[in-house]
Amino acid sequence: MILDSASGGYPVLIGTNLNRELRNVITRLDPTGAAIITDANVRPYAAKVAKAIKRAGLKTSIHAIPASERSKSMAQLESALAFLERNRIDRGGCVIAVGGGTVGDLAGFAAAIWQRGVRLVAVPTTLLAMVDSSIGGKTGINGLKSKNAVGAFWQPAAVVADLASIKTLPAANYRDAFAEVVKYAVAMDRGLFDLLQRNSPRLLERDTSMLERVVFRCVAAKALVVAKDERDRGPRAILNYGHTAGHALEAATGFRIAHGRAVAFGMRVAAQIAFAMDLCSKRVVESQDALLEAFELPHRPPHANLNRVLAAMAMDKKARRGKVAWVMPRRIGHAEIGHSVPGALVRRVVKRSLA
Ligand SMILES: NC(=O)c1ccc[n+]([C@@H]2O[C@H](COP(=O)([O-])OP(=O)(O)OC[C@H]3O[C@@H](n4cnc5c(N)ncnc54)[C@H](O)[C@@H]3O)[C@@H](O)[C@H]2O)c1
Repeated sequence: MILDSASGGYPVLIGTNLNRELRNVITRLDPTGAAIITDANVRPYAAKVAKAIKRAGLKTSIHAIPASERSKSMAQLESALAFLERNRIDRGGCVIAVGGGTVGDLAGFAAAIWQRGVRLVAVPTTLLAMVDSSIGGKTGINGLKSKNAVGAFWQPAAVVADLASIKTLPAANYRDAFAEVVKYAVAMDRGLFDLLQRNSPRLLERDTSMLERVVFRCVAAKALVVAKDERDRGPRAILNYGHTAGHALEAATGFRIAHGRAVAFGMRVAAQIAFAMDLCSKRVVESQDALLEAFELPHRPPHANLNRVLAAMAMDKKARRGKVAWVMPRRIGHAEIGHSVPGALVRRVVKRSLA
């Protein structure tokens, strides 16, 4: 599919064993040089990507960062930029990010600032990167204490999502990504919700043809809102469904909980609040619960202090002067942004959800 962006459309290819398609993408972009950024775990897959690039008649080399969220750091950014410099990537060159969201965010940011911006080809290798982080143009690294504090909007020139790479993904990372998938379904896409409901066992077994349908729908959903609001100043906030309480739980537990689990918690909290405010029916709460359960995203979060979670919520970067704007489900497939919720209700629901 072709996605729109202010800087022009770009292709997103989703399928299995896409090395030939990748070669064609590179040939079409016709860069003066190509440099691959990956992480230590994904290196074997990056080597295959390197082969495809060489077949397109280009020299390339691979820079592997340590496989850790801590790699979204100033030090790793500096070493990625030094790698681009060593490889003489000029303004006509391109960076190829092969990996999950960690690699994508760091490599994307390096591409955004190197030579004031060179083209980026994203080759996402995690489910989360395919359905979320490789689309939408947010790139960046962490601040000393805050996540994703330093960054830039930089849209890719192409995205090549090869589902074959998902096979080797650790089980927990794969399963947790379904929190974001369920998010798209509940907030934006009823048809996706039905598809997930009917096919959770096949998806948990990583059936590639089913995955292809799911990834396609998620990318389409994200693309739709990003096209309306590339810089995240309005409607894009719908993608924040489940993230208000989710981020707060992550912050309150020192980021020891997986992001997907935190988002699942956050979606449960948001739906219960919406029900209490008469914004949605009990069925919405229950069917979302059942779907999260089907993807092994359990009810019970790790122990977290209620006051810490509430304090973190007020600090949320999406809050304006301490006022949190909630994204609320109205029915399956449709959520609304910008709801304010009485503090006492938030406290009551979060308390119950943490018990
Ligand atoms: N830019 C955005 O819009 C956006 C959106 C969501 C998340 N993110 C960021 O994404 C990051 C999380 O991304 P993630 O969940 O993809 O995790 P990740 O990139 O940290 O990868 C998780 C682990 O899986 C390994 N891995 C990756 N692909 C593999 C494969 N095919 N086979 C085997 N192992 C593989 C990695 O080496 C790593 O150890 C966070 O830093 C988050 O902030 C960014």
